[in-house]
Amino acid sequence: MSNEIESVLHETRVFPPPQDFVKQANVSGQAAYQALLDESDRDPDGFWGRHAREHLTWRKPFTQVLDESKAPFYKWFGDGELNVSENCLDVNLKNGNANKVAIIFEADGGEVKKVTYQQLYELVCKFANGLKSLGYKSGDRSVIYLPMSIEAVVAMQACARLGITHSVVFGGFSAKSLHERITDVGASLVITADEQMRGGKAITLKPAVDEAFAMGGCEAVRHCVVYKRTGGKVAWDAKRDIWMHELADNQSAECAPVAVNAEHPLFILYTSGSTGKPKGVQHSSGGYLLWAKLTMQWVFDAKPNDVFWCTADVGWVTGHTYITYGPLAAGLTQIVFEGVPTYPDAGRFWKMIQDHKATIFYTAPTAIRSLIKASEANAAHHPKSFDLSSLRLLGSVGEPINPEAWMWYHNNVGGGRCPIVDTWWQTETGGHMITPMPGATPLKPGSCTTRLPGITAAIVDETGGDVEAGHGGFLVIKRPWPSMIRNIWGDPDRYISSYFPSELGGYYLAGDGAQCDKDGCFWIMGRIDDVLNVSGHRLGTMEVESALVSHELVAEAAVVGRPDATTGEAVVAFVVLKRSRPEGDEAIAIGKQLRDWVAKEIGPIAKPKEIRFGDNLPKTRSGKIMRRLLRVVAKGEKVTQDVSTLENPAILDQLSSPV
Ligand code: WT7
Repeated sequence: MSNEIESVLHETRVFPPPQDFVKQANVSGQAAYQALLDESDRDPDGFWGRHAREHLTWRKPFTQVLDESKAPFYKWFGDGELNVSENCLDVNLKNGNANKVAIIFEADGGEVKKVTYQQLYELVCKFANGLKSLGYKSGDRSVIYLPMSIEAVVAMQACARLGITHSVVFGGFSAKSLHERITDVGASLVITADEQMRGGKAITLKPAVDEAFAMGGCEAVRHCVVYKRTGGKVAWDAKRDIWMHELADNQSAECAPVAVNAEHPLFILYTSGSTGKPKGVQHSSGGYLLWAKLTMQWVFDAKPNDVFWCTADVGWVTGHTYITYGPLAAGLTQIVFEGVPTYPDAGRFWKMIQDHKATIFYTAPTAIRSLIKASEANAAHHPKSFDLSSLRLLGSVGEPINPEAWMWYHNNVGGGRCPIVDTWWQTETGGHMITPMPGATPLKPGSCTTRLPGITAAIVDETGGDVEAGHGGFLVIKRPWPSMIRNIWGDPDRYISSYFPSELGGYYLAGDGAQCDKDGCFWIMGRIDDVLNVSGHRLGTMEVESALVSHELVAEAAVVGRPDATTGEAVVAFVVLKRSRPEGDEAIAIGKQLRDWVAKEIGPIAKPKEIRFGDNLPKTRSGKIMRRLLRVVAKGEKVTQDVSTLENPAILDQLSSPV
């Protein structure tokens, strides 16, 4: 255990939920939480069935809650039918929300555009009708490569309306990554934009799609629909390319939602694993939406007057569950933001909260940490220079939040009065799993606190046995839950080996190390596999290594993570070239070349922060790279472990000095 984790575990501050908050909360007080928890433990099927009937509109009611006959390929509400888009849009029109603002969109440059539920409904229906006119239907797969926009939500919702399974690819991923996903998912449709705006600059998107197509193997793609964001010049293939507005404009504003089975894959989202290529995490329709909606009510305490703002991108699961689906299913007004937190200056988030009177704000620790620095450098960008009195609840997601950042967030953004929900979950879990309920759970800075009702999170050892409080172990979920991953697209064996290793007797293995304290609060200690968390983004060390070794100069590479004060972890690459080890200016130049190469292969988020060149890598006599030692060296610490099993101990000195 590292010193850092030691000190976090000695954190003793506790913040009980403020009385005012408790009084109005959807789950009010510890006893209400406990009652839900007890019900879910005592009668899971009754508990989930009750919520699924209460919260979702079904076309065909389900008769069975959970089907475990093919475990771990679980089915939830498996003979029921519904449509996700109907539950997000039509339901709101019926409930009197037609003229309520659904989305407040703020562009990178500050322009604001609002759409009501009625308008969003019409946009989705028109676009869905357009897709239908091109022959797309339930069972098809689309890849969506769009900037943050109302159109991104429309595209996803339109797919959901027709039963087209979408796979959103983050706009920061390269043509190569895009190609990998288009071919793996077997897409017949790609939806993209000409360009996106970030920090005042136009960044092209369609050229990456064209490049991906040119790599071959994408012949199943019949159309590329293009949202005109900037009007920037793009190459055009008249047989394949079609503007989004031209496709939608003359269509009817009514499009009957297609009822699908509750298990129908709503989306497939790629995420990094410890080995090989990214995994296509397949999610369901019914179970997924149920949890997206329920966690909005429980964790975000959603109320009709809220203005909700999740700063994630729809390219990540957070943007799926807490932008495209959850807030709409809950009938909220939400903010969708195109830009970055530091443009035009580091006061952007706070100004937007002030301007739009946001009541719930959900962001990542890495953003908070970078804004702490920026606000210390310039008081004009400090949250205290803005009126943030509209806020009533804060959230954190993506990585552990260190107690200092938690306290700063609490005091300076939340004015000391807003609870913070530190939500632990994953792409695979579909929604929040371990998190405070803001009107019930006492908060501890740095802990994601307690499990949600229905979520049987626990800490176990390598044989699946329970580990007692205060000891580290593997974080598992003992019983299935409705919004869980259903499969890895096209790779059921990998689904089983990644998440349900036989030693654990059927528990879902999250891949995180954690421990529980005596109050049942969870403290996440980081990944147990070769997965890094850089700025809240998951990155496999193997992916970066494969990208590096595919460069013509590189013979061998090993990639490890190093703690970073802003990004959580940073990528450090140890590289052996096919020619002699470069030094000085040459090392700097090749380092830059390799970093750009990784950005091109995967995306800028995967760029190593540092590259160190060696004549070799530290290896055991059997040739295994000792990554454990490289992690120590990357931190700038002296290796104190026994290195007698190393083939070449002297190499550690060489690798200890940064270029
Ligand atoms: C991994 C999942 C959850 C959506 C965004 C990331 C880490 C996530 C927390 C948290 C400590 C966290 C875990 C997890 N993580 N939230 N509140 N506290 N760690 O989704 O890309 O699938 O990454 O992020 O290590 O396994 P993801």
